[in-house]
Amino acid sequence: MKITSAEFVTSSTGVSMCPKPDKPEFAFIGRSNVGKSSLINMLTGKAKLAKTSAQPGKTQTINHFTINGSWFIADLPGYGYAKVSKSMREKFRRFIRTYLLNRENLMSLFVLLDARHGPMEQDMEFMEWLGENEIPFARVFTKSDKLSPAAVIKNIALHDKVMKEKWEALPDTFTTSSKSGEGQEEILAFIEKTITLFQY
Ligand code: GTP
Ligand code: MG
Repeated sequence: MKITSAEFVTSSTGVSMCPKPDKPEFAFIGRSNVGKSSLINMLTGKAKLAKTSAQPGKTQTINHFTINGSWFIADLPGYGYAKVSKSMREKFRRFIRTYLLNRENLMSLFVLLDARHGPMEQDMEFMEWLGENEIPFARVFTKSDKLSPAAVIKNIALHDKVMKEKWEALPDTFTTSSKSGEGQEEILAFIEKTITLFQY
């Protein structure tokens, strides 16, 4: 799929503020600083579409973008950002979970995981929660330019090993770099295929 237009729609602080669910939607989630906003910019080829920052906790609202006038991307706030207060973390957690449980046009969620690390408790628990709630998701290993291809493969294998203890099948998995563009074609092909299942 070629992206010919990508436009910012809204920043929502509540699920009721999100745009009308009349187009298929793909959302991006993961720990703060994992590279959600950078990946959205890489996929769309618009470097400044989603705001990125070296400081974790940049995205604090659900930001919607319309792509090719026919589908949505949602950039979600990161989870697990240690520097915000416990009550703020809990507020975000509820906000994100309400969105995920109620957004009827959500076709798939991309769960971003830093390719430099092995499995982390928080990500594993989050994916288990997605499974329990039947929310479809794919894994995206980010920042692959920061390590060797062999090290990426090794870390993904560690993730797979832990997931296989609880899951019968592993989710679709992508490796990306917002620097080199790795993974762009694969993710856009996945979106193109998944969009065809949308019913409104
Ligand atoms: P929050 O909105 O704070 O939750 O963060 P985020 O997940 O949206 O991360 P963001 O895209 O803002 O990127 C965080 C930092 O990582 C920035 O300094 C990016 O430049 C850097 N970064 C993101 N993706 C990549 C990548 O693929 N390669 C490299 N080398 N750096 C990356
Ligand atoms: Mg962000």
